[in-house]
Amino acid sequence: MQIFPNQKDTSNVTGTSYTREDWQAGYQSLKQEFDYWVEDIEGEIPPELNGTLFRNGPGLLDINGQNIHHPFDGDGMVCRITFTNRRAHFSNRYVRTPGYVEEQKAGKVLYRGVFGTQKPGGWLANFFDLQNKEIANTNVIYWGGKLLALWEASEPYRLDPQTLDTLGKEYLDGGLAKGDAFSAHPRFDPSSKLDGGEPCLVNFSIKPTGLSTTITIFELDTRGKVIRKHAHSIPGFAFIHDFAITPNYCIFFQNPVSFNPLPFLTGMAGAGQCVKFQPDKSTRVIIIPRNPKNREMKTLETHSGFVFHHVNAFERDQEIIIDSVCYESFPEIEPGSDFRQVDFDAIAPGKLWRFHLNLEEGKVTRKLLESRCCEFPSIHRENVGRDYRYLYIGAAHDATGNAPLQAFQKIDLETGDRQMWSVAPRGFGGEPIFVPRPHATAEDDGWVLAVIYDAEHHRSDVVILDAQDLHRQPVARLHLKNHIPYSLHGNFTDEVFVDD
Ligand code: CO
Repeated sequence: MQIFPNQKDTSNVTGTSYTREDWQAGYQSLKQEFDYWVEDIEGEIPPELNGTLFRNGPGLLDINGQNIHHPFDGDGMVCRITFTNRRAHFSNRYVRTPGYVEEQKAGKVLYRGVFGTQKPGGWLANFFDLQNKEIANTNVIYWGGKLLALWEASEPYRLDPQTLDTLGKEYLDGGLAKGDAFSAHPRFDPSSKLDGGEPCLVNFSIKPTGLSTTITIFELDTRGKVIRKHAHSIPGFAFIHDFAITPNYCIFFQNPVSFNPLPFLTGMAGAGQCVKFQPDKSTRVIIIPRNPKNREMKTLETHSGFVFHHVNAFERDQEIIIDSVCYESFPEIEPGSDFRQVDFDAIAPGKLWRFHLNLEEGKVTRKLLESRCCEFPSIHRENVGRDYRYLYIGAAHDATGNAPLQAFQKIDLETGDRQMWSVAPRGFGGEPIFVPRPHATAEDDGWVLAVIYDAEHHRSDVVILDAQDLHRQPVARLHLKNHIPYSLHGNFTDEVFVDD
């Protein structure tokens, strides 16, 4: 069992660590767009912390009062939190996709969402309407001088980092063609073997092609130019949200799911609702060499359950080791259900596993690293694809069961030690981002940045935690003037785009 000492601020919580009403309130739309310096701060912003935390997530959970069916269908809203000279600035803007602009103008839902939001008028209005809305709501990265809002179904949208204005779809100087997908989970390689140790960004896209699926790998140099692009065909339908890289490989988990397009084509359900988990089948682990000259793809099998996110992967001797958050089953989205009424107890929690992929023997072994419900892992950016010691992850307050994320956990993979900081009962968390202290040498010398929703004040806080001692009270807690609906992913850059 793990022990979590010094949890002073959570000792008064017994039983259920939250109320459904509090959790639901974090899913209210944020219609306003803001620009302000944060004035209400507990603690002090460290003078060495300078840069920008970008986050993306669904900002609108309703269109003029008509609730959307699943938060993954909500219009992308990018938040920018700037840290400069001990001060912090907040701003947020909607990604002005054509769907967002048209629906705001019309004041009603005009498009179908991938995860089941239907136009009013029942199945007839949705029949043969195969045009899903573009939402750009999943991640946001700053790379090659460009700020890109990402989602996995088509091209990224480029924003102006200064104003957060939407500049349009981004084609990476011809690296992407019209309609090409570009996943929301690129991986940053701090020292690319194929580029003499220069950093590069590795990403992928998934495209169904009849009975098979095409995985395309993209590698971008520091100027944002596509320097490698190669496609590979794998058998069957693939629902792949994330991947992992090592210096030599890209690793994908092809979860055992099937896709029945009929309910979608006939307007009965969103495309995401036609995905069915097949627990009797094994997960295929697909290992694709990053060097385009090496076409030798390997496929291994394991029982992983369903995976949205991987933490990291690295090579050791004849093995690739990969750490992933696995669910015993795919959380299916029932037509007609409302995500706000989800029964957490009826859903299997995500748990952290380590897989050893033996490339010589073609075998996979696995072990459970963390049984507490957890999601949204992150690590030191210089350790992507490398052996690493520390990971940070959103976690449930209680050690067992499935529940909203209300805590942040640090796991020491060398000693097994855990540290946790919880905001239960009225706070709700998400993805922690590790930011190294400038010139630090220890892997965990830096801060964990996170946005939490505070139901008591119906507002969000940006917290700066000491990554070496997560138990402590935050280094600083920035009370925003507004709440931020639960966001998905984000990234930190050392660049600052706001004039001090
Ligand atoms: Co994700």
